[in-house]
Amino acid sequence: MILVTGGTGFIGSHACLALAQAGHELLILDNLCNSRADVVDRLQRICGRRPLFVEGDVRDSAVLDEVFDRHRVTAVMHFAGLKAVGESVARPLEYYDNNVHGTLQLLAAMRRAEVRTFVFSSSATVYSDREGHVYRESSPRDATNPYGRGKLIVEDILADLHLAEPAWRIARLRYFNPVGAHESGLIGEDPRGVPNNLMPFVAQVAVGRREFLNVWGNDYPTPDGTGVRDYIHVVDLAEGHVAALDYLTREGGLLTVNLGAGRGHSVLEMIQAFEKASGRPVRYRIAERRAGDIAQFWADPSLAKMLLGWETKRGLDQMCADAWRWQQYCEGLS
Ligand code: NAD
Ligand code: UFG
Repeated sequence: MILVTGGTGFIGSHACLALAQAGHELLILDNLCNSRADVVDRLQRICGRRPLFVEGDVRDSAVLDEVFDRHRVTAVMHFAGLKAVGESVARPLEYYDNNVHGTLQLLAAMRRAEVRTFVFSSSATVYSDREGHVYRESSPRDATNPYGRGKLIVEDILADLHLAEPAWRIARLRYFNPVGAHESGLIGEDPRGVPNNLMPFVAQVAVGRREFLNVWGNDYPTPDGTGVRDYIHVVDLAEGHVAALDYLTREGGLLTVNLGAGRGHSVLEMIQAFEKASGRPVRYRIAERRAGDIAQFWADPSLAKMLLGWETKRGLDQMCADAWRWQQYCEGLS
């Protein structure tokens, strides 16, 4: 059985589907601070089996010990955490507590239970932007905010742990920009309040929930002046997790890989693709650059292909079509 922390969230719920499809039994642990319990019902509708669900916090050792005592967990995928960069600047203690202390509590409980296979949600945010815009796993790392620093700290803790106790099998997966939704349209990203990220905002403009999108700057040194990112369909990302788990089971060790598509799209390209997929206009205004943004980056995904035999299969049109199907379903949720 795989323990999926944060399994009712955006990426975790898609990972649950990919794991279930690969034949794994699942136990989700989530405190629902950024997701809804009925995601579990929808997972059951899609895959025909109901994952076990425990409402609880990864910082709570008693809950963790009970989970490990009661169930034969063989590996942990750790998605639980807070993820808003701006909020992390305003509330650093909450971010370090959830994302760093939470991970330490989880690792300690795993060690008590003698479970030593761990897959961690890292991020392209760990790369520093000094060395060009194609990020390889060996590229320099740096952090400019508490969210990113938390990812760096956990990456380093995991490397230290593996050095001290080589029996651990650990994957540090560096995600680029996950977007889209499951093709069923039943699960996806449903941010609370005003979305920080581009795609959910675009989808909310298309559906009429918001009037227009602010495009943060059109004077970057990119082909059309707007920011360029490596958008990855969340189902491709989820499949990357299954491939990483298979790799750890086969090879062991400490795995660090980019999960990205290996090419970038600009903000204006994303808007156009979404208009095409939805048949709706996406109104936008050009605004000042957003503090902390950089012009462009994308992954070198070749290591994941070589080690895991994994690469992305779904392009921009599918990302937008699936996000649009989900956005329409989302409007009907209370
Ligand atoms: P999400 O907010 O949709 O999912 C996170 C889930 O964790 C939520 O269901 C939330 O309720 C739960 N959670 C938060 N703190 C918890 C705690 N202390 N105990 C138990 N549950 C808790 O976010 P997501 O986009 O699915 O991100 C998952 C992971 O991937 C995060 O670690 C995030 O930092 C990382 N990541 C996300 C992106 C992205 O752009 N979405 C990019 C890179 C990395
Ligand atoms: N953008 C807009 N308007 C918006 C939102 C975004 O123009 O309302 C632009 C941004 O300026 C950027 C691009 O759209 O050029 C993508 O922005 P996102 O906020 O969607 O994504 P980021 O690349 O800034 O950051 C995301 C996550 C980080 C993660 C990073 C790399 O929020 O946590 O991807 O994986 F670290």
